[in-house]
Amino acid sequence: MTSDDNRFRAYHEAVAGRPPRATLLMALDAFAAEGRIGFAVDLGAGEGRDAVALLRRGWTVLAIDTDALALTRLRARPDVPPGAHLATLHASFVDARWPQADLVNASFALPLCPAERFPELWARLRASLLPGGRFAGQLYGERDSWAERPGLTVHSRDAARALFDGWTVERFDEEETDAVTPRGEAKHWHIFNLVARTSD
Ligand SMILES: C[S@@+](CC[C@H](N)C(=O)[O-])C[C@H]1O[C@@H](n2cnc3c(N)ncnc32)[C@H](O)[C@@H]1O
Repeated sequence: MTSDDNRFRAYHEAVAGRPPRATLLMALDAFAAEGRIGFAVDLGAGEGRDAVALLRRGWTVLAIDTDALALTRLRARPDVPPGAHLATLHASFVDARWPQADLVNASFALPLCPAERFPELWARLRASLLPGGRFAGQLYGERDSWAERPGLTVHSRDAARALFDGWTVERFDEEETDAVTPRGEAKHWHIFNLVARTSD
């Protein structure tokens, strides 16, 4: 999908200015402990709550999103540091290709892949990570309110864990809460929060 997809516009307005995700911060701290700063791809970057945190720590970032306005807003954010290495790609991560990366970050984004395309997306994502690279982000579990929606991917705990066979899993926790979405919709959230490192 390369045409503009603005289904998330209200979401972007609701979350504007929110801080980076804990999963991203954990991955960044782990890289910092290794003395590494590198190249990150942010899938479903939105207006860049995570991309800006990466840029502010000196990372080079490719932000991918189907919402062109969100990417325009990201590029215009006043908290993007001067001289930051930011590129944006208006594309679907389901089809996009990206260069090899130290980090692939996908906060609340990968479940927005049709289930039949997920294995291929995951294989491409895995292959795009450099040795010692990391994935940070979320997957949805089977009891999420949106599990039955068409065009989404949910995982059982075992299936989510199996994606990381052969990786060092640094965070794998399961969260279930009844809460309201940023757009004001009541929802049962069933989420896996994930940070994992590939081998050297
Ligand atoms: C729930 S929002 C999460 C945004 C941000 N990562 C965050 O953590 O707040 C999902 C984002 O993914 C984008 N998106 C949805 N489907 C996509 C796709 N197939 N390819 C690229 N971006 C997509 C939406 O436009 C939106 O910015």
